[in-house]
Amino acid sequence: MSADLSIELAPRNRRGLRLANPVMTASGTFGYGTEYSELFDIQKLGSIVCKGTTLEPREGNPQPRLVETACGVVNSIGLQNIGVKALVREKAPVWAKWRVPVIVNIAGETVGEYRQLAEALNGVKGVAGLEVNISCPNVKAGGAAFGADPACAAEVTAAVRAASSLPVIVKLTPNTGDITAVARAVADAGADAVSLVNSYKAMVIDIKTRRPSLGSVTGGLSGPAIKPIALAMVYEVASAVGVPVIGCGGISNAHDALEFIMAGASAVQVGSASFLNPRTSLDVLVGIETFMEADGIKSLKEIIGAARK
Ligand SMILES: Cc1cc2nc3c(=O)[nH]c(=O)nc-3n(C[C@H](O)[C@H](O)[C@H](O)COP(=O)(O)O)c2cc1C
Repeated sequence: MSADLSIELAPRNRRGLRLANPVMTASGTFGYGTEYSELFDIQKLGSIVCKGTTLEPREGNPQPRLVETACGVVNSIGLQNIGVKALVREKAPVWAKWRVPVIVNIAGETVGEYRQLAEALNGVKGVAGLEVNISCPNVKAGGAAFGADPACAAEVTAAVRAASSLPVIVKLTPNTGDITAVARAVADAGADAVSLVNSYKAMVIDIKTRRPSLGSVTGGLSGPAIKPIALAMVYEVASAVGVPVIGCGGISNAHDALEFIMAGASAVQVGSASFLNPRTSLDVLVGIETFMEADGIKSLKEIIGAARK
């Protein structure tokens, strides 16, 4: 009998969010899924998280928006996306025919915008859940990220929770003093699960032009460079909250993914690694299966949090 890789990511939610396996794609690195469906069988994945979605379409930040750095990449895409109306009209009907559940990542500048996004997506066929990106600047509070402060993060979570019956995953930013305090606050405010981490604030300078390399000066660092730091955060958050944790940050292969799972993650997201090899997420899945088979592990649950026991 083959091993059981399935996982329930929203046990507190009436609808639930059951994944056939723990391998997800990270928002902003896998488009709307459709772009990759010609490259490999994306239906084999546990879940796809789509691009960050805002109320209105966005063109994103000035170029350049992506700079390579040692063991990683710094990006400042600025949430370029088609907007929620076009997503509901054009993308959701395609997803509704898929076996793989699609989660919509939402981003706003005010609590009201997050609420409106949650309302617009509630009950839409093809949308299996929401991932709330709280790394965005809160314009009414001077531009600090919602996710930097437990009270602001809880306010956004409560608004989304009240506006939608869909499973709600809150995606935490590592750019805060105490990520476990934010994780506890959002879990108490009704999050079904938390995902972490988003990218780390970073910059690169072009010494020839003596100017920042990114059009918007700073951006977010992702890729292998952040993996050990993200792993420590996942370990700490998984010990602090009672809801499922989704690990993300520099996952490039099954070994990386298994580290996150043993740190306490119930599922993992593959991000920047898909840029180097679009099939990375599938390779990660196959590698987890191979590891479990070789070690005689019958169920993924046997190894979730193994390093914390
Ligand atoms: C080009 C790019 C675009 C991204 N866009 C989003 C986004 O729209 N919403 C979001 O929550 N995270 C976004 N992220 C963050 C990733 O989902 C992920 O959290 C981060 O890159 C860390 O994972 P990684 O090291 O595996 O890439 C983006 C990352 C990259 C590299």
